[in-house]
Amino acid sequence: MSYDQQYQQSLIDPNGYWLDKAKQISWYKMPSIGLNEKSNDGYSWFDDGVLNTCYLAVDQHVEKGRGNQIAFYYDSPAAQVKQQISYAQLQQQVSTFAGAMRDLGIVKGDRVIIYMPMIPQAAIAMLACARIGAVHSVVFGGFAAHELAIRIDDAQAKLIITASCGIEFDRIIPYQPLVNKAIQLAVNKPLKTIVLQREMSLAELDVKQQISWSEFVKNVIPADCIAVKSNDPLYILYTSGTTGKPKGIVRDNGGHAVALKLAFNDIYGMSEGDVWWAASDIGWVVGHSFIIYGPLICGASSVFYEGKPIRTPDSGAFWRIINEYKVNSMICAPTAFRAIRKEDPIGEYVKKYDLTSLRWVFVAGEKLDSSTYQWLSELLQVPILDHWWQTETGWPMTAPMMGWDNPAPARLGSTNKCTPGYDIKVLSIEGEEVSIGEVGNICLKLPLPPGASTAIWNQPDRYKDAYLSLFKGYYHTGDGGYKDDDDYIYITGRTDDVINVSGHRLSTGEMEEVVSTHTAVAECAVIGVHDSLKGQIPIGLVVLKAGVEIEIDQLQRELVADVRRQIGALACFKRVFVVQRLPKTRSGKILRAVLRKIAANETYQAPSTIDDPAILQEIEQLLSTECQHA
Ligand code: COA
Ligand code: AMP
Repeated sequence: MSYDQQYQQSLIDPNGYWLDKAKQISWYKMPSIGLNEKSNDGYSWFDDGVLNTCYLAVDQHVEKGRGNQIAFYYDSPAAQVKQQISYAQLQQQVSTFAGAMRDLGIVKGDRVIIYMPMIPQAAIAMLACARIGAVHSVVFGGFAAHELAIRIDDAQAKLIITASCGIEFDRIIPYQPLVNKAIQLAVNKPLKTIVLQREMSLAELDVKQQISWSEFVKNVIPADCIAVKSNDPLYILYTSGTTGKPKGIVRDNGGHAVALKLAFNDIYGMSEGDVWWAASDIGWVVGHSFIIYGPLICGASSVFYEGKPIRTPDSGAFWRIINEYKVNSMICAPTAFRAIRKEDPIGEYVKKYDLTSLRWVFVAGEKLDSSTYQWLSELLQVPILDHWWQTETGWPMTAPMMGWDNPAPARLGSTNKCTPGYDIKVLSIEGEEVSIGEVGNICLKLPLPPGASTAIWNQPDRYKDAYLSLFKGYYHTGDGGYKDDDDYIYITGRTDDVINVSGHRLSTGEMEEVVSTHTAVAECAVIGVHDSLKGQIPIGLVVLKAGVEIEIDQLQRELVADVRRQIGALACFKRVFVVQRLPKTRSGKILRAVLRKIAANETYQAPSTIDDPAILQEIEQLLSTECQHA
């Protein structure tokens, strides 16, 4: 069957299409209902299905006699450890940890925060939650205590699982003080904190509140997988939105498992026994879907890498991994390849390794620039495949279907065509479909396919406001872009206040909240400007309070420290500019869309409602002279 036939089938008969796909995973009770459409654009999938995601990811492989196959290749140049974990070993460790959580009183539906570096215990903790129906919420290790506290409170977490430290290149980052501070800041106090002690930096535990991992699992009777409903939540993953408060994206069990089975087999073209590497972090959606759940549900071996592309110990780190584990395919953010290219522009390190196992490389998370694409294609001599998705969808919306007979060939600048179930329309702000080649708002016709989130934790109205209110009958992705004659999609960038720094999704609104609390600041705007390595970096435009005198260097130092302390180092907030005023409408709204265009060096039109058009030129000039490094 051609791409068009298969894809069209998913749109014409979504119910039949996805019920058929549902048969490819094991259920305790196979769903008889596929799509359940409700009033007001509401819908759900597989309402009467019952299953367990941990069973699919772990136990089923052991039951099928494949317990000796490697589930994870843990490779940590950071900690100088290599470890192979088979499916049988994983089952033993996950069921024991799940048993310990059960004994502590964690039950189905309880929320568990996991704040850990890239160590296998993080995966074990996630799978153990899934096993007993607890809802995990993984927080990326680069976030500061304040951000962790926000998530502890929003999720009303009953338990925190952490490690004594993370490692950034050769820098040890103790996690314990961050977690302690977060618990102190949080209104909701978790029952306990479980701490995995790493030998390079042991944490001092407070015996009343904290238990070491090794103590926690002593003499425990392992827990079995429990049956959960398809629509019961598997996890909450917080992501940045336009406003300051992060959005807790909720993922179900059944739709997620069905979608990841299709994505791993049909999009990434991977099968049982293949070796796969998602060079990301469990704190991001890529880590959830394609370090852990996707490859394990499909019975592949997943590389679990704690390190960086460069300086671990050199810029051949990625090529060593591919060579050593015979990686068949991988996914990574372009920024990592830009980092390698900067250190090793002619690809000297590639020559040291045998990369013949590699079939293709997927990239996502931010725009793939043509120069990185060319460099990587020539260097690796395999297809470099751009594809596009977001935390909310949980799996790709546009991608080549590498597991199908005739995947659509890559086109430079495009993230390829729609994957099954995603019906993309490019809409004008009035909600009309724009012409071919014209840039507009990238929207998805409702209902979205299984796996895509339909809820923000505890805030049903926020989901509707954020995604469904602007274009009736559509999910608004927040990305801009266009289609070509053959329905290839081209993503031009965010149309809201979300920026992408080193493939990390961040909210400029959140940074503005921090900057604006400084005593010298009257008002501010944080915008993303182009950066040749990180894709984008945030800069602050600040108006000082009348009469305040402060050296710009000192102000910048203080603001940079504030953002680092409140949000985290990953924000990469390093530049501040003092301006006399910010561009506003006559009613006092800062013209953020115009600022974004200026920052992106795009043509813009000053709205007729602007109170003082001259300020736009001033800012344009300031950015063009001051941001030339970027
Ligand atoms: N824990 C603590 N700190 C962290 C961290 C973590 N898990 N991750 C990043 N940081 C810190 C870094 O140490 C750095 O701190 P510094 O300012 O003191 O040097 C800061 O946050 C910025 O980090 P980053 O922008 O990531 O730079 P880097 O040099 O550490 O790494 C890359 C560069 C390209 C390797 C890395 O950004 C990367 O792998 N990005 C891909 C992201 C991704 O996978 N996205 C998912 C989509 S596929
Ligand atoms: P996240 O939710 O962290 O995965 O980030 C999702 C956002 O990253 C998307 O909304 C896009 O803005 C951006 N993004 C993801 N993949 C791509 C891609 N291939 N090209 C351009 N932008 C992308």
